[in-house]
Amino acid sequence: SSNAMWGGRFAEGPSAVMREINASLPFDKQLWRQDIAGSKAHVAMLGATGIVSAEDAAAIGAGLDRVAADYQANGVPADDLTLEDIHMLTEARLADAIGPVAGRLHTARSRNDQVATDFRLWVRDAIDAVVAALEGLDAALLARAEQHAADVMPGFTHLQSAQPVTLGHHLMAYHEMVTRDLSRFRDARARLNLCPLGAAALAGTSFPIDRHATADALGFDGPTRNSLDSVSDRDFAIEYLTSAVQCSLHLSRLAEEFVLWASQPFGFVALSDAWSTGSSIMPQKRNPDAAELVRGHAGRILGCMTSLMVTMKGLPLAYSKDMQDDKPPAFEAHDLLGLSIAAMTGMVASATFRTDRMRALAESGFATATDLADWLVREAGLPFREAHHVTGRVVKRAEELAVTLDALPLDEMTAIDRRIDARVFDVLSVDASVASRTSFGGTAPDNVRAAIRAAQGDAA
Ligand code: ARG
Repeated sequence: SSNAMWGGRFAEGPSAVMREINASLPFDKQLWRQDIAGSKAHVAMLGATGIVSAEDAAAIGAGLDRVAADYQANGVPADDLTLEDIHMLTEARLADAIGPVAGRLHTARSRNDQVATDFRLWVRDAIDAVVAALEGLDAALLARAEQHAADVMPGFTHLQSAQPVTLGHHLMAYHEMVTRDLSRFRDARARLNLCPLGAAALAGTSFPIDRHATADALGFDGPTRNSLDSVSDRDFAIEYLTSAVQCSLHLSRLAEEFVLWASQPFGFVALSDAWSTGSSIMPQKRNPDAAELVRGHAGRILGCMTSLMVTMKGLPLAYSKDMQDDKPPAFEAHDLLGLSIAAMTGMVASATFRTDRMRALAESGFATATDLADWLVREAGLPFREAHHVTGRVVKRAEELAVTLDALPLDEMTAIDRRIDARVFDVLSVDASVASRTSFGGTAPDNVRAAIRAAQGDAA
């Protein structure tokens, strides 16, 4: 038989495959809360403007509450694909609950503005959840950075020991990334927060609706301005996904550092039991699986973003059914991002940083060679290029003797350049090196502590 909602002009029902390819209910059931909220705001407005009677509006509002209570208690029944999507399912359940008056709910509305509204509400909730989670990650980073503000580790370029930094400084680099991520999500939310409800199918409606009232009731800043754009715009979801991608890139870099640091050659970090997994064959193993999955999830989130962008590319105005494919990638990316943030927060908060090992590696890699070159410039007046060359020879000699720079005897250094004197030992230790990096944004422990205080001030 033909469809109960739109089958008036049809003699026969859809084929089974048509029904299956057409149905979004298996995934858009996730929108049920937003769909009920949108319908309640819509029917309250229909009642207030007299488009439906106050009684009918009240009956529909109460019926929607009953449908919502049933979804909450029993889940959303997603097996009947003839109902296509969450919008038609809810209307059918509403009719079961209150009878034919349910048919007045869809006055002055289309599923096109309805789904655009629901999806905006969902993305807005998604952003709020991500922002809260990122604030938690940031708090964990700041706490661990404070604890390790003065603990020396090798800083790397090309993954080669470069100059000593502090672990606190390194963690604060991720605080900066998280801060930019938060700003992107908040920015996307601000632009998203206009309400498409009332654009109807594409052209607006002849009913005397009050779009400001529905926008207000749903917590939007106002109605969207163009009915065609209202039903065909998915920028808000794309912006959520691009922000999610950038965030996941940061998480994957942090995850990769945990993977490296947890390896035996580095030994910089011991993950807590809660964030490690064992091997079914090798009893000694403590694998950083969660970090590896965060690294992997970034690729999947990027795939979700690509998927939605490609769906939208080249679509003519206004609504096309392709746009129904907007939701699975947003839902998937949100789940993956939520897990990734939670996992990294847990790892950062509970990891044991092996500061002794970090210090030993910082000391063994000639990481204070730049300090020696700078000293030769500052104290002995050499041009930097010449200082660089002299220092290179000092490093070579230390390597031959298998000692660190601050353990190389002074006569070995003066044999290379007579302008070096005993004061040089003031700058050759890793602690002296980091303490000297007092330029704004540098790794000196006092700078790191100031950056943490500033960040905590911003958060408070
Ligand atoms: N399930 C549809 C979607 O998610 C709802 C809108 C359907 N509109 C239509 N004209 N068929 O996009």
